[in-house]
Amino acid sequence: MSINMENNLFLNNIDDILQTSPSKAAHTVLLVDDEINNLQLLKRTLRGKYNILTAQNGKEGLEVLENNADRISLIVSDHKMPVMEGTEFLEKANQISPDVIKILLTGFSDIEILTDAVNKCNLFQYMLKPFDPQELEQVIENGIDKFDLASSKSLILNDLRELFYKTIKSISSALDAKDPYTHGHSLRVTLYSLILAKELGLNDKNLEEIELAGLLHDIGKIAIPQSILCKPGKLTDEEFAIMKSHPENSEKLISSIKKLQGITNWLKAHHEKWDGTGYPGHLKGEEIPVSARIIALADTYDAMTSTRSYRKALEHEVAIEEIKRCSGTQFDPNLAALFIQLGDTIKAAKENPEEYYSKYSYLQKEINSTIV
Ligand SMILES: [Fe+2]
Repeated sequence: MSINMENNLFLNNIDDILQTSPSKAAHTVLLVDDEINNLQLLKRTLRGKYNILTAQNGKEGLEVLENNADRISLIVSDHKMPVMEGTEFLEKANQISPDVIKILLTGFSDIEILTDAVNKCNLFQYMLKPFDPQELEQVIENGIDKFDLASSKSLILNDLRELFYKTIKSISSALDAKDPYTHGHSLRVTLYSLILAKELGLNDKNLEEIELAGLLHDIGKIAIPQSILCKPGKLTDEEFAIMKSHPENSEKLISSIKKLQGITNWLKAHHEKWDGTGYPGHLKGEEIPVSARIIALADTYDAMTSTRSYRKALEHEVAIEEIKRCSGTQFDPNLAALFIQLGDTIKAAKENPEEYYSKYSYLQKEINSTIV
């Protein structure tokens, strides 16, 4: 007897996706049972269809899983076993490989115990003993279909994430390329911001948003004429007013993108100053979002240590002295102190931005970790 915990309607509609998945024969199934006769019966049932691994108790099963986590798609486990019960084994297996499909064979018919087991182990299905081998075969096939579907979805999501991230990075580089003096500016600002944010212990979501905000902070400069952006001399008052419109342009440009709505305020506020003398909102102190305060420090440091059309790059030490001098007026004093404390890392990152960026980039890491 089997109790299906899944709604398979959706599975029937994604045949096209499944056709691109590996054949069933490429899948590996782990069978765990203390009774050798049962293991033999299970192996006979599945022979020729899957690669089979076996274990005779939960402890051994966990070892096999740990050593083969990359290739196991599905686990079938007995419940009553010495050393470790099937539910405990599957619960631990779920911590190692949450995506692996888990099926429990049990003599229990108490619905409360079974429901508890389903929830704790993230069980795909349980089967009451004695089971019909053909029925088990069908359940396993359904489980493998579900595994393939999840893998396909994860690949598609990862492709989309990669496309999104690379598009943002390309837009950011294209913007920097408008002025030969700002080549690599957005990437370095992002890098310094990430170094600071990581030291502050910000969570993954914040790190992702800071990375996006760093890459896009000056996106509004797309609307600024080249003659103003690249002007070698001092800007006139009128030109400076146009230049000062870029934080609001950045906000407007990305406000319609749902995924970026959380960072629009940060882009708008990246030229605000701690003492309220910045623009466009003359925000003061903690009125300025913390991420905008981080980006402001990174942005100013990079501007000082890069050669511009109107002056040569300042040495790292000179820029750090300037940050010290402007702490509490232009910059949040706590963040400025942290920036100065992280001076050696910032300097090393400035000398080797690509290498440090791949170390600190949250988005890049996310993409790499989800490649199946
Ligand atoms: Fe800016």
